Amino acid sequence: MKAAIVFYSMGGNTKYAAEKIAEKINADLIEIKPEKQYPDKGFRKYLWGGKSAVMGDIPKLIPYDFDSEKYDTIIFGYPVWASNFTPPIKTFIKENLEKIAEKEFAVFACSMGGGAEKSFEKLKNYLFINNFKATLSLIDPKDKPSEENNNKINDFISKLE
Ligand SMILES: Cc1cc2nc3c(=O)[nH]c(=O)nc-3n(C[C@H](O)[C@H](O)[C@H](O)COP(=O)(O)O)c2cc1C
Repeated sequence: MKAAIVFYSMGGNTKYAAEKIAEKINADLIEIKPEKQYPDKGFRKYLWGGKSAVMGDIPKLIPYDFDSEKYDTIIFGYPVWASNFTPPIKTFIKENLEKIAEKEFAVFACSMGGGAEKSFEKLKNYLFINNFKATLSLIDPKDKPSEENNNKINDFISKLE
């Protein structure tokens, strides 16, 4: 298996998990970022990010390298926003849907504890797929490191192989 981990992270939790997973399965990391950054502090961060997720925004991304032919598996990673996957992931899929249509998909989401399952359902619909090869829901893995998160990451990886 050769996987690309396509992720967006505002506060570093998703990035932390992405790096851990990449190291264990030798995956390539593709970090995507919107051209216009979301506010990342205080109340505005929830207001703008939440609104963007609820409204279904498709923000323009800073150019990224993605050679789809190198991979058979795409793993998406994002923070849950308002029980949804984050808008930059939406943009990536919109820009690459044809190229990735035949791939296998897995997903991990970081949250404070709610909405990951709902976000997985929404992502499945957006990708036009019935199921992911593996799913993983983590609670703030960088800010609140826990044995549980580590075990869940290992379990996720075992389902990928
Ligand atoms: C705009 C916004 C909306 C959020 N919505 C949710 C939510 O619906 N459920 C939840 O459990 N956490 C929610 N969170 C918390 C993040 O998903 C969580 O802290 C995540 O680990 C952050 O990942 P990051 O550090 O990679 O950005 C939200 C955070 C933001 C900024």
